[in-house]
Amino acid sequence: MIDEKTGVLLLSHGSRLDDGEEVIKAYTEMFKEEFPNAAVEYGFMEIRKPGIPETINKLTKDNDLEKIIVVPVFVAHGLHTKRDIPTLLGIETDFKEEDAHGHHHHHHGHDHGHDHDHNHGHHHHHHHDDEEEDFEFDGEIILTDPLGIDTRLYTIIKDRISENL
Ligand code: NI
Repeated sequence: MIDEKTGVLLLSHGSRLDDGEEVIKAYTEMFKEEFPNAAVEYGFMEIRKPGIPETINKLTKDNDLEKIIVVPVFVAHGLHTKRDIPTLLGIETDFKEEDAHGHHHHHHGHDHGHDHDHNHGHHHHHHHDDEEEDFEFDGEIILTDPLGIDTRLYTIIKDRISENL
């Protein structure tokens, strides 16, 4: 499935608590177990280390990669996946600032859980003042879609409900 020229970065939001790292680490280990020769690491977009540059440096240090596939392990797209993560990865997107502001009020009620996104540029710099590590990678960086709408996730939602009935 994956060759030695391709690296994988499983990207989590980042939190001061350990729970998020336990989850992303477990998925990374599952992937390593299934594809023992794959170059795969997990990292965080903010708040927690390793951050994006550190993780890419880890991936490229011992592997001669031509491509890195970054999977944001987020349920939905938001400003993080559309703006902040591409910026940190140094890749172009078709995101426009007015997309965030123009429909702000309209979408607000539907975008629960993402309130902290609204001033994200500042938020990010605030947390990362002390670690402006850089990365160098001449290959291709692909940022995938988040997990999205999928009946496999719906099954988990039903499990969470049924185990509490
Ligand atoms: Ni955030």
